[in-house]
Amino acid sequence: MVRFILNEKIVESALPPGTVLLDIIRYHQHLMGTKIGCREGDCGACAILVGELKDNHLQYQSMTSCLMPLANAAGKHIVTIEGINLPKELNPVQQAMTASGGTQCGFCTPGFIISMAGFCLSGKPATAQNAIAAIDGNICRCTGYKSIERAALKVAELVKDRKKEDPAQFAADQNILPAYFANIKQRLFELHNSNGSPIPGSPDPAYFLGGGTDLYVQKHDEIPHASVRFLFDKPELNGINKKGNKCILGPSVTVTDLKESQIINDSFPVFQRYAKLVSSTPIRNMATIAGNFINASPIGDFTIFFLALDANLSFVSQGNPEKASRTISLRKLYKGYKILDKLPDEFLAQIEFELPGKNDLFHFEKVSKRTHLDIASVNSAIHLTLNGEIIEKAGLSAGGVGPVPLFLEKASGFLSGKFISEDLIHDLIEVVQAEISPISDARGTADYKRLLLSQLIKAHFITLFPKLELPKLVLSA
Ligand SMILES: Cc1cc2nc3c(=O)[nH]c(=O)nc-3n(C[C@H](O)[C@H](O)[C@H](O)COP(=O)(O)OP(=O)(O)OC[C@H]3O[C@@H](n4cnc5c(N)ncnc54)[C@H](O)[C@@H]3O)c2cc1C
Ligand code: FES
Ligand code: FES
Repeated sequence: MVRFILNEKIVESALPPGTVLLDIIRYHQHLMGTKIGCREGDCGACAILVGELKDNHLQYQSMTSCLMPLANAAGKHIVTIEGINLPKELNPVQQAMTASGGTQCGFCTPGFIISMAGFCLSGKPATAQNAIAAIDGNICRCTGYKSIERAALKVAELVKDRKKEDPAQFAADQNILPAYFANIKQRLFELHNSNGSPIPGSPDPAYFLGGGTDLYVQKHDEIPHASVRFLFDKPELNGINKKGNKCILGPSVTVTDLKESQIINDSFPVFQRYAKLVSSTPIRNMATIAGNFINASPIGDFTIFFLALDANLSFVSQGNPEKASRTISLRKLYKGYKILDKLPDEFLAQIEFELPGKNDLFHFEKVSKRTHLDIASVNSAIHLTLNGEIIEKAGLSAGGVGPVPLFLEKASGFLSGKFISEDLIHDLIEVVQAEISPISDARGTADYKRLLLSQLIKAHFITLFPKLELPKLVLSA
């Protein structure tokens, strides 16, 4: 039995815990404001807000309910479009949308309004940039985005005086959202204290489920009826910790967790820019790093990122957790297209990598058909350890240019012990070209992908060594 608060009321559901919340909301709770669009996390029509207690704070995140299992609602506050209506008039977020002409057929509108309400409930600074970023997972087919952006700017204005500590209280006090939001924190405490939120899950699962953003897209009809071990909301699987110069990640760390981590931001100064290239806010709120590695997509962004960093993975066997644990390099995980050096019952329990030090440089590049909310045509990361102008050690990775996410072993070895120069980069590109085997597909021809990777390698060096004279790199292919 899964217990949670749906808008204002407690809901108990005995449906299979892998049932997607979208179906529960529409077909079992008969709340039809949450729409079904793509059912693949792309359109945001099904967006909901998920409020939970973290370190005694109530935090809300937007998520796509089409990819979210019922189990992930346990002990949380789920907010649908119906849950943010004021008793008599449109709430100020809804008013901002209508006043800006941000809605036509209206199909996408509940999703946009929910994402904007989520922005009101977040502790983020009330800047125009943050307000617009909050709707980066919503697609509108008829209105055009400028009027919707204007609505988002009005919403930012509404919350400019809120306190970071308790945005829900502020939104309730200001009559932006209904008064019941002021009591949710207390009600969630009570729900937890009554032990009302155990996360169900199978001890002998057919599937591990991190965020579900890949599994539900691949096996939409199967997961609700399968035996699943849910990996979210377990403190032991969630932390981002530093031990000396090592960083240790729990497998269920999400992209948003990384984005908000001081440890990560200190070590990767432009991490925010990298993370914005990965999916959208609601997907980043669910998608885990382990899921990115294990789904083995040849273009998984964080797989490419951590291949360059030479991350190590600790696996634990379900059958015999005490004895059967082992650590392997992420670089050794991929054996062929979607074939892993991993037994079906092994689950990824920990990720460890060395944080870049003062002699290290790191950079990530991604090109996709759209800049945002799109998977890569080709992506690449580079990690260099320098000794003056000599490269002591290099890790170069690339996605979209082979059947698996590639650690470019020969190219990385080629860089070791070399002076950085324009000629070196040209020679490096030749080595890289011999090491990759892209195919033509919907994301570009093989030739295009070869050219793209050459350009991304140049982009790495131009970005990392802005003072070097590398004039020919920008123009020549
Ligand atoms: C709209 C949309 C946009 C996307 N955009 C991007 C993008 O820009 N870049 C990108 O890289 N990806 C993107 N993705 C893909 C996906 O979100 C990521 O790969 C994500 O990191 C998967 O994580 P998850 O936790 O949701 O995986 P899940 O769906 O939970 O799991 C994926 C696989 O990993 C396995 N698994 C998960 N955790 C463990 C574990 N601890 N041990 C063993 N096995 C495990 C599962 O069994 C499953 O086989 C996108 C997906 C969607 C729906
Ligand atoms: S229905 Fe499109 S994101 Fe869920
Ligand atoms: S108003 Fe029609 S899809 Fe946005």
